[in-house]
Amino acid sequence: MRSALFADRPIDRHSTVYVAGHRGLVGSAIWRRLRGEGFTDLVGRSHDELDLKDRSAVFEFFRSERPDVVVLAAAKVGGIMANNTYPVDFISDNLQVQVNVLDAALEYGVERLLFLGSTCIYPKLAEQPIREDALLTGLLEPTNDAYAIAKIAGILQVQAVRRQYGRPWISAMPTNLYGPEDNFSPMTSHVLPALIRRYEEARLTDSPTVVNWGSGTPMREFLHVDDMAAACLHLLDTYDGPQQVNVGTGKDQSIKEIACLVAEAVGFHGATEWDTSKPDGTPRKLIDVSTLIGSGWEPQIGLREGLESTVAWFRENVTALRT
Ligand SMILES: NC(=O)c1ccc[n+]([C@@H]2O[C@H](COP(=O)([O-])OP(=O)(O)OC[C@H]3O[C@@H](n4cnc5c(N)ncnc54)[C@H](OP(=O)(O)O)[C@@H]3O)[C@@H](O)[C@H]2O)c1
Repeated sequence: MRSALFADRPIDRHSTVYVAGHRGLVGSAIWRRLRGEGFTDLVGRSHDELDLKDRSAVFEFFRSERPDVVVLAAAKVGGIMANNTYPVDFISDNLQVQVNVLDAALEYGVERLLFLGSTCIYPKLAEQPIREDALLTGLLEPTNDAYAIAKIAGILQVQAVRRQYGRPWISAMPTNLYGPEDNFSPMTSHVLPALIRRYEEARLTDSPTVVNWGSGTPMREFLHVDDMAAACLHLLDTYDGPQQVNVGTGKDQSIKEIACLVAEAVGFHGATEWDTSKPDGTPRKLIDVSTLIGSGWEPQIGLREGLESTVAWFRENVTALRT
């Protein structure tokens, strides 16, 4: 059932929309979706063109571009290894980026804003599936607590702007995402692009075995980034509430099952081994998506289909991947 916080309040397709992080996995998908939905005035800056940690440059950018709408999809993002190894970078960079963008958006009158976080904001042992109101009810997963604290601060800043200034800004927390433009770097990628790369390399080198991190038993949920972008526009067009909204499929699988699907999508026929000396991370992370589904949105891209198209994208772009 649609809650009172959902109503049709579509964004004018001629608004100036700034997508922060428009070259990343999420930002590029949102950009494609906005274009596809008829938005005519999209603004983006690469990291090289505008470092969002540079507060005065961010304010100058907002002063000259005057966006009506902001989607904040720029962040320092990484998998378990990067988060665990560089916690200072994950908390400091993300706090700086989001405080600068949110402060400048407030100063320059941005009316509609979507802040993107992730489900690592929820307590490690939260009851599954994790509802939005589990936020701040328990201890975080230590391997990514620095990143999570930065994202929680962002949610609270959005809520504070709503309370103090009455702007209808919102936050969305997507589950694990995958798709075109992902980060496939062996050092910093998330689990699914890391698996695609590892299995593809094993296939190309006729390696008999692939070794993956951990036990393979953790349960994870995956959403294709194009579905996530559709959900974000749906939220911008319809949602006006202080609570962050979970974005996912509501279904999960073990990492072992996911690895098997990746091996199939890639065409790898060898064996898979699991290095249990490496950390597993949170045992299970399935989110409750009833708020979003109840508002009339549902994902369209199945995991098998999404993996096949992502493998095809990886092969076409293998020489131009991010490092
Ligand atoms: N990927 C997922 O599975 C997932 C899941 C849930 C939520 N999310 C959320 O979605 C958001 C975006 O994630 P993503 O996966 O799209 O990450 P991504 O692919 O790494 O994209 C992030 C983008 O932000 C840019 N960026 C980072 N620091 C910047 C800075 N200081 N100045 C300017 N640009 C900067 C990056 O540019 P450079 O690469 O040049 O640094 C990159 O283009 C994050 O808030 C993340 O928490 C992601």
